[in-house]
Amino acid sequence: MFNNFVYQNPVKILFGKGQIAQLSKQIPADAKILLTYGGGSIFQNGVYEQVKKALEGRNIVEFGGIEANPTYETLMQAVELGRKEEITFLLAVGGGSVLDGTKFIAAAIPFEGDDAWQIVTGQAKFKKAIPIGSVLTLPATGSEMNYFAVISKKSTQEKKGMGNPLVYPTFSILDPETTFSLPPRQIANGIADAFTHVMEQYMTYPVDAQIQDRFAESIIQTLIEVAPKTLENPTNYEARANFMWAATVALNGFISLGVPQDWATHQIGHELTAFHGVDHARSLAVVLPYLLKIKQESKREKLIQYAKRVWNLSGTDDELVAGAIQKTGEFYESLGLSIKASEYGVNQETIAKIVKRFEARGVNFGEKADITPAVVAEILEMSIA
Ligand code: NZQ
Ligand code: ZN
Repeated sequence: MFNNFVYQNPVKILFGKGQIAQLSKQIPADAKILLTYGGGSIFQNGVYEQVKKALEGRNIVEFGGIEANPTYETLMQAVELGRKEEITFLLAVGGGSVLDGTKFIAAAIPFEGDDAWQIVTGQAKFKKAIPIGSVLTLPATGSEMNYFAVISKKSTQEKKGMGNPLVYPTFSILDPETTFSLPPRQIANGIADAFTHVMEQYMTYPVDAQIQDRFAESIIQTLIEVAPKTLENPTNYEARANFMWAATVALNGFISLGVPQDWATHQIGHELTAFHGVDHARSLAVVLPYLLKIKQESKREKLIQYAKRVWNLSGTDDELVAGAIQKTGEFYESLGLSIKASEYGVNQETIAKIVKRFEARGVNFGEKADITPAVVAEILEMSIA
């Protein structure tokens, strides 16, 4: 059934060349700003300079060193600084990790409970957050236009997602030129992540949601088309702009309206990152092809639709299903991502730990909640075979 939905996305997007110059107008004049960033790429590609120039004369404190897969431990240092400096606005400049980390900081600064990790686990409800703006430098996660954040805890090797409309950015600046400095590995990761986001919201069962289906298919087709171009020629503005916008709309909430969603691949992938440090996108590429194989009966109608509309395949229904799964794995491989978890040292021991964790949490995944911990084990076993 085409489900009811309510949709409101408040994020203002400033897209295109030179848009960082608009920064000052987006932030209240009397704001005390905490500028957050990652490991330093913004100093090498000129983004830091552009931001500082746009914000000349403004009251700014800085916090750098937010790592890929941002950790609670690092972010709590920013929370402490933010409280001490009485920050009133957060400006995240970087990739998904900096944006996600900043969403956590925004919720944790005014949080009055004893244990801010409970913000991530959902055990504590937070009612306030410091407003956030962002300058995105890596197309991938959609964090610039959604209210999700994924935070890791080093001490317990956990990686968990949180979501709350209070942490929507008020604005996000997307200038494709800021991404020209990305290494090929990060471009490939970004394409694979955005592709998988669409698949999580599309590859379920049909509910005759025609707009959502065709919008999802168009995002995947765009990613397939621009992938080789933007990998081969990083400064091709049009290819990069199309990739950047595709990654945003892949996870800004629009394509999930009214339709069932899966997200098992992400849940399993997060555990591979937590235990083996696998890049986020790479953790997805070693799960989805096998998940599709195992769940091909319940996803059959959508696999056939995807085979025909996205990959232009023809043949019997059985051939279309097999072709769709094959093409999905080949797409990751065309980006240089392995589809084998064994590549990252994942073994039976890891699988046992993951299964134990999911059992303890009492969770099943998938659009039909039929991806039980035992099914997760089956998927991962195929990936290490
Ligand atoms: O830290 P710096 O020095 O900035 O370098 C980063 C980092 O090493 C570098 N980079 C970013 N922009 C660059 C650049 N290097 C050169 N030029 C640029 N313009 O790229 C590296 C990776 O950055 P990161 O932010 O970690 O990558 P990504 O954007 O892929 O984010 C991954 C994180 O987002 C989470 C993932 O789990 C992971 O923690 N996700 C967030 C989601 C959300 N908020 O909705 C959904 C996703 O499914 C995902 O789970
Ligand atoms: Zn993702």
